[in-house]
Amino acid sequence: MDQYQETHNTWNSVAKRYEEAFMDLEIYNASYDRFCELIANDKASILEIGCGPGNMTKYLLDQKPRYQILATDVAPNMIVLAQKNVPKARFQQLDGRYLNTISEKFHGILCGFILPYLSAMDTIRLVKNAYTLLYPEGVLYLSFVSGNDRDSGFIASATGERTYFYYHNVAILQKELTKLGFQIIEQLEVPYKRSDKIIELHTILIVQK
Ligand SMILES: C[S@@+](CC[C@H](N)C(=O)[O-])C[C@H]1O[C@@H](n2cnc3c(N)ncnc32)[C@H](O)[C@@H]1O
Repeated sequence: MDQYQETHNTWNSVAKRYEEAFMDLEIYNASYDRFCELIANDKASILEIGCGPGNMTKYLLDQKPRYQILATDVAPNMIVLAQKNVPKARFQQLDGRYLNTISEKFHGILCGFILPYLSAMDTIRLVKNAYTLLYPEGVLYLSFVSGNDRDSGFIASATGERTYFYYHNVAILQKELTKLGFQIIEQLEVPYKRSDKIIELHTILIVQK
């Protein structure tokens, strides 16, 4: 099976478990607040890619109830959970590799931890497409795990389901974003406690067109 297909199947089958673990995690809230601060319009149209069970969309709508959010994910079970958790948003099943099929424009685009499931090439394609979909001064939010592409590979959960996990080089990504015309506004590093022994650093880039 194609590595993307296996990863997407795994996300579909672990949707409920992801919701239980991550729906109310607060460690990224300050970065979501910063994203909102940069968007002047209180009725902004926002696109979320890889929305999972709707955790980011829910937080945003709690802060900014007039935002118009289109939230998307490749996994149908994630969309079902997100619809239940955030009935006010619009949802669509979409593979983030095919953003070019969207014809609306947005004031902001959120990509929370979808880059770990996209190759370096598909990530560049995604940020190019995001640039096209943003209004002038539109804001793009990206979170991922910085590292060497050579360390990317399959990771198996306790139940044996696998996802192909990509590390991204932050300097290379910043260079590509700048080349496209984005201005780098923030680079944040958030420590995430994976277990008693393992603390990961999660990188967040907030960039503006
Ligand atoms: C780690 S979760 C992140 C969920 C949420 N954005 C967050 O930050 O908590 C990754 C999500 O990306 C979705 N995903 C993975 N590959 C995708 C792709 N190619 N297109 C769209 N969604 C994808 C998965 O189904 C999953 O819901």
